[in-house]
Amino acid sequence: MSKRQFFDHLAARWGQDECPDIRERLAWVAELSRLKAGQYVLDVGTGTGALIPHILQAVGERGIVVAIDISCEMLRQAVRKGFPPNVHFVLGDMHRLGACAAAFDRVLCNAVFPHFDDKELALREAWRVLRPSGLLVISHPIGREAVNRLHAQHTAVAEDTVPTAEKMYYLLTHLNWTDIHVIDEPGFYLARARKPG
Ligand SMILES: C[S@@+](CC[C@H](N)C(=O)[O-])C[C@H]1O[C@@H](n2cnc3c(N)ncnc32)[C@H](O)[C@@H]1O
Repeated sequence: MSKRQFFDHLAARWGQDECPDIRERLAWVAELSRLKAGQYVLDVGTGTGALIPHILQAVGERGIVVAIDISCEMLRQAVRKGFPPNVHFVLGDMHRLGACAAAFDRVLCNAVFPHFDDKELALREAWRVLRPSGLLVISHPIGREAVNRLHAQHTAVAEDTVPTAEKMYYLLTHLNWTDIHVIDEPGFYLARARKPG
């Protein structure tokens, strides 16, 4: 089964087994992403759009959210939620974004980074579509170990592990990201890095 098929199958029940305080954790992701009113945000691997309400709360109606995913079924669930017109859904792959260069203030990858088959290429795409001084945020609101345990139960994503803080720091430094900050605590993971201005 491909990853796309795996996520298509999951879409109808995505979110049902979430930890009870997931909203607070997502709000924390949004806060650490330093979102501001009017910003343009790319929500990569949006799934059913769990992070979108938190992004919207910060960017407001002048902001733009482009939410991409490889799974049609995930996007179908997200569209059903009836988000406002400044949220745009795109069927797309992080390895080959159609978006223009330097289009976004923020690239947010919530609960998706381990699924990228070529992490360097994905990070180079994030770099390309970010404006100078824009921030990339890679987050796992239930924490690295919980994600790795969960993925290990499913063949399609069993190899998709969240990098340790050291590995993530190395990967980002090697690709010239700056102001790198990685939180790798039990129950919460977030890596934030800046494209130089
Ligand atoms: C674990 S779900 C997380 C969904 C959402 N971000 C959330 O926090 O609820 C991962 C999502 O990433 C999508 N995805 C996986 N690989 C992708 C890629 N290369 N480009 C874009 N989306 C991808 C999947 O289809 C799935 O919807």
